[in-house]
Amino acid sequence: MYQIRKPKLSEVVELKALIDKAVGKDLVLPRTLEELYENVRDFYVYADENGLAGCVSLHIDMEDLAEVRTLIVRDDLQRKGIGKMLLHAVLNEARELGIPKVYVLTRCPEFFEKQGFKKTSLEQLPYKIRKDCARCPKYGVTCDEIPMILYLSDNKKGTSL
Ligand SMILES: CC(C)(COP(=O)(O)OP(=O)(O)OC[C@H]1O[C@@H](n2cnc3c(N)ncnc32)[C@H](O)[C@@H]1OP(=O)(O)O)[C@@H](O)C(=O)NCCC(=O)NCCS
Repeated sequence: MYQIRKPKLSEVVELKALIDKAVGKDLVLPRTLEELYENVRDFYVYADENGLAGCVSLHIDMEDLAEVRTLIVRDDLQRKGIGKMLLHAVLNEARELGIPKVYVLTRCPEFFEKQGFKKTSLEQLPYKIRKDCARCPKYGVTCDEIPMILYLSDNKKGTSL
């Protein structure tokens, strides 16, 4: 029996351990415990009888833009549709909030392409550059994250789900 739901505050340490494993493989950016408590409401988790085995967050940048971050499914449960369910949990939340544009910076573009995201350029995301990339030592040098965008409303060019 599993659930896709918001994490409990008592699960934040376990959430960090899940994230840390993926950080160790250079798959996602690190998150401190403080950051996780501050942003816990951004998250959804996949939980079953063995605890947390997946997570994702939706971080709102501005009125019309949000970022999908920290999408992780534990290795042994990958390719069973859990990543897709987690992603759709945050996309539904974005829709409920009336956010028309959602983006991700990822090294796994194939997964996001299957969910309707299209490759874009960082220059199309100036807010992200100003907020995070400009401070990152990899920006413009060794950054291998691919920016991708999904339009949730139909009034802009792009894919709608
Ligand atoms: C990316 C990730 C979250 C996908 O989760 P998952 O549960 O394995 O994905 P799903 O089973 O929901 O896959 C949905 C679809 O995407 C495909 N897919 C999943 N991972 C893929 C990959 N790496 N390459 C190509 N296709 C992939 C699946 O085959 C499936 O296709 P289908 O609908 O045609 O059957 C998971 O591989 C992961 O945790 N990776 C490590 C962390 C990471 O890179 N996160 C992304 C950072 S933004």
